[in-house]
Amino acid sequence: MSSKFKGKHFLTCQDWSKQELDTVFETASDLKQKFANETPTRYLQDKTLFMIFFEQSTRTRNSMEAGMTQLGGHAHDLTADKMQLSHGETPKDTAIILSRMGHGIASRNCFYGIGNEYLSEMAKNSTKPVMSLQDDIYHPFQGLADLMTIFEHLGKNTKNLKVTVSWAYADTHSKPLSVPQTQILLFPRFGIDVTVAHPKEFPLSKNIVEKAKKNAEEGGSSLKFTNDMDEAFEGAQVVIPKNWGGFGHYDVNEYLQNEDECKKEMKANLEKYKNWICDDKKIKLADKNVKLMHALPADRGNEVTDEILDDPNISIVFDEAENRLHTAKSIMSLTM
Ligand code: CP
Repeated sequence: MSSKFKGKHFLTCQDWSKQELDTVFETASDLKQKFANETPTRYLQDKTLFMIFFEQSTRTRNSMEAGMTQLGGHAHDLTADKMQLSHGETPKDTAIILSRMGHGIASRNCFYGIGNEYLSEMAKNSTKPVMSLQDDIYHPFQGLADLMTIFEHLGKNTKNLKVTVSWAYADTHSKPLSVPQTQILLFPRFGIDVTVAHPKEFPLSKNIVEKAKKNAEEGGSSLKFTNDMDEAFEGAQVVIPKNWGGFGHYDVNEYLQNEDECKKEMKANLEKYKNWICDDKKIKLADKNVKLMHALPADRGNEVTDEILDDPNISIVFDEAENRLHTAKSIMSLTM
């Protein structure tokens, strides 16, 4: 596929104009249609993508690997322990070498204060496109799939659509800030009115909130914050209840210097908010046609009840997950 995006990195949707993102969505829809019709789309025949995961993944790993196969290429599924990264080889050297051997590099590194810098260092030194599979700040592929799903279920005219991004309780692990941060940056650019709810100890990063407010101003939309989950659900047309860790409460240097103490404090704060769950009572506060979205994996019974997550009239989480494939293929075919 010839494309003006060849070689363009994909570390955050912020680096792509709205017009460029429109092309990404059109390409994703076309690929989705062709996938459904079993029409071949071998746009990356004989091309290689190197994927380096520092953390676990189901959707991201498989959307990228299956996507590369469906585009006629191949993805190497690498983890740090399989590579010399584990002996300290730098992201710079790794990127130079892999970009000489293949056609794209993709990596997930969510360590707070480290991940985005790591991926940016790779991008600076790679001659081939570098794609973020999630870092400590952004999860751009998730943002694309979220917006594509909103377009499909609520229409392409998203002006003043009411979307609530709410913190929710979970006891699995401290989830990164990158999903809600990507959503509050991206949705307002498409005219969506976003309300964010979180307990006071679980803010998003200040600099991202500032950027998101600017995006809302430019997009003619609104971005509001509250510490009250009920208030945020009132009248919402889409609700996204999801846990994120309390990283945003700390300056990066403060966190890195006192990691153990910060983690202990985050855990103690978490236990205060077990009632932050998306259940029938909360859903009744929202618009009568409200849709539930979640990047998944969901912490069932904590973030959201089974009853809501499995309600086919409300939940669109599996369409959202499937759209990870089509948006991944779109970015890969346009940039590689
Ligand atoms: N939503 C998401 O990124 O899922 P995985 O962690 O399974 O890739």
